[in-house]
Amino acid sequence: MSAGKRFKIACVGAGNVGASVAQYCAEMELGDIVITDIVEGLPQGKALDLTEAGPIRGYSTLVTGSNDYKDIEGSDVVVVTAGLARKPGMTRLDLLEKNGNIISGICESIKKHAPNSVVIIVTNPLDVMVYVAFKKLGFPAERVVGMAGCLDSARMRSFVAMELGVSMKNVDTMVLGSHGDDMVPLPHYTTVSGIPITKLMPKERVDAIVERTRKGGGEIVALLKTGSAYYAPGASAARMVQSIIRDEKQLLPCAAYLTGQYGLDDVFMGVPVVLGKSGVEKILELELTDAERTALHKSAGEVRTGIQGLKELKLL
Ligand code: NAI
Ligand code: 2OP
Repeated sequence: MSAGKRFKIACVGAGNVGASVAQYCAEMELGDIVITDIVEGLPQGKALDLTEAGPIRGYSTLVTGSNDYKDIEGSDVVVVTAGLARKPGMTRLDLLEKNGNIISGICESIKKHAPNSVVIIVTNPLDVMVYVAFKKLGFPAERVVGMAGCLDSARMRSFVAMELGVSMKNVDTMVLGSHGDDMVPLPHYTTVSGIPITKLMPKERVDAIVERTRKGGGEIVALLKTGSAYYAPGASAARMVQSIIRDEKQLLPCAAYLTGQYGLDDVFMGVPVVLGKSGVEKILELELTDAERTALHKSAGEVRTGIQGLKELKLL
């Protein structure tokens, strides 16, 4: 990516999350956007709809839709949200297999048409899918990253702000680990304008916020009934795109490939990273309590179980 160039962002998957990513990226005028999906007309329809919102929302981003991967040619960033949600009767392993196959196929196309891109995986189960993508793409680890920590920490920030009646903008936090019930929210790295929340509310309230954060995805599913969250996930992925495209070097929790950090190796997990034009430019190792470290390793264990499942299915 060179200064002054026109950037290109591909959103693979034109469902709820993919369309939201495209919408937020269009509003920020981060670059030309191409949305792709296997369903004919869906990406074209969403792209045209987003284009027609431009005059009102004040952007002139070029948004196009396609069913052909050759149209992602030359993308700087590819965001993958394509996949299935778990349906009744489907086991976790069934979902792993189905989405693992979808991610593998998409990665072949990304490798062919956007070989220099930074790839952001959103599809669930996130930490396993980003591992699949890394293995199939063969890109350097810094150019493959998963979105989950941004979302989980945004949820925790919202809950803290709601609890204390303060601006969301003043709340900062860090949520590590895998994207699921085993994630590791870190209250002692959670602050309101620099003040640790542990000094602003009783322990029971902190514990309740940690628990609500862990179950944040399920809370939305229980309300929506027919799908999962997409506004906050879309905004989270778009924030990552922004940091990469504009080389902002934001420090964000993202699923990154670990090679010994936190005592973990050959696994993707949510950790604090610096995101810039090359992707994951740095992984930060925070000082953790023994309990947090144990929780992080438990979280990694869950991810490894998924990876093992795919290995047994010969998908990895
Ligand atoms: P959705 O069902 O609305 O959209 C999925 C889209 O993927 C559909 O339009 C479908 O046609 C498309 N698709 C399926 N196979 C494809 C293929 N081979 N190539 C291209 N497109 C294909 O689902 P939604 O709500 O957009 O969620 C997408 C994924 O993101 C799910 O796996 C969901 O669990 C995950 N997710 C992850 C989050 C995270 O924090 N990592 C947060 C929210 C959702
Ligand atoms: C979420 O956390 C379903 O992973 C999705 O909302």
